[in-house]
Amino acid sequence: MTRWQVRILHPAQMKILSIETSCDETAISIVEASGGLESPKFLVLGNAIFSQIDIHKEFGGVFPMLAKREHAKNLPPLLEKVLKDSELYKKTEESQTTGWSEIEEILKREDGLFKPFKSLLEHIKKPDIDIISVTSGPGLEPALWVGISFAVALGKIWNIPVVPTNHMEGHITSVLVSQDSEKIEFPAMALLISGGHTEIVEIESWGSYKIVGQTVDDAVGEAFDKVARLLGLPYPGGPEISKLAEKARTENTPKIAKFPRPMLTSANSNFSFSGLKTAVLYYIRDNFDGKPEKINPEQKADIAREFEDSVVDVLTHKVSRILDEKEIKTLIIAGGVIANKKIRSAFTNLVSKYSGLTLKVPSNELSTDNSVMIASATYIKSLVFPDIVSRQDKIVAEGNLKLQ
Ligand code: KG4
Ligand code: ZN
Repeated sequence: MTRWQVRILHPAQMKILSIETSCDETAISIVEASGGLESPKFLVLGNAIFSQIDIHKEFGGVFPMLAKREHAKNLPPLLEKVLKDSELYKKTEESQTTGWSEIEEILKREDGLFKPFKSLLEHIKKPDIDIISVTSGPGLEPALWVGISFAVALGKIWNIPVVPTNHMEGHITSVLVSQDSEKIEFPAMALLISGGHTEIVEIESWGSYKIVGQTVDDAVGEAFDKVARLLGLPYPGGPEISKLAEKARTENTPKIAKFPRPMLTSANSNFSFSGLKTAVLYYIRDNFDGKPEKINPEQKADIAREFEDSVVDVLTHKVSRILDEKEIKTLIIAGGVIANKKIRSAFTNLVSKYSGLTLKVPSNELSTDNSVMIASATYIKSLVFPDIVSRQDKIVAEGNLKLQ
């Protein structure tokens, strides 16, 4: 693979094509970033996303090999759409004929991707893009590989540098995209809550991350999804549980179910959600023979509310422990689970109790997986480490990539 010549990117304005395929969303964006670290701005020129949720729904979860196949199918049409939306799609009569065997080699493990890639790319001009960024982890490795191979092939055809990006850093920097003009004050802390992760990260400055707490078993989103399955609700369960819980609150459904608040008083910032899920499992087993069809709508809403309340108590308690000890100026909460209204309002409430603390959460559409957040992370990273491109060697998928 190419080792790019020493190339320092210009922070004044950078056009980034970003690709996200770490789980069940295939997403490509073109984002114009500017403003530097002091006041980063992101103008989304094009954003194409395809959610595979309906495909995985049938199986009650995400199947890595199925996700991989779907990503390969979706990437070329999404690229075409995003180029058109950002007015960077320019046809050319001359066909690009050289180098296809190298591209075929790069794409060889992604079934069925080479042909549509070639037929799209051979008649379009190189777009005005400075950098291609792609999620390299954490995530499902077969899914990550498709995005990486696609990005590398594009970089080769267009001679544009490709940089790998950490998906979790993307979730953190997603708050910069929908940002009012207020800048992030440091030290900051991020609570990352998604289907695969539950982490508390201290951020001294951009690019300097320290994980100070994490789940010892299930991620919080995973617990939402598993409890939803126990209640016979479709995947992904988070939004379903949330709807039911809200219903229980507005209708004042009797409070009957009682679940634990795992690790609430442990003297660290770690979480455990597997025990909570098991408590729901036992409750349904003992009271309803383990059969969701035996639970009436009111009882389901009660279970969903009590489960959600437990999650809220644990998350807010763990975060407030740190806020009591350290002077944190910005609390960032990101990841798919922050779409949850109850969790959002609980944190708005919590933050109002600390003077000098600001809460930043991404807009709803940037909470769940997307590629705009990948562009934002790449921009920030390129400002902190201006030589990211020249340092770049072979990009590999890392399912357990850690923030560092
Ligand atoms: O960040 P994300 O899109 O993907 C991962 O990187 O995992 O997060 C997806 C997770 C799923 O577990 C989904 O159930 C959860 O976010 N989620 C929610 C809500 N909306 C999505 N959980 C609770 N309440 C919601 N409203
Ligand atoms: Zn995510």
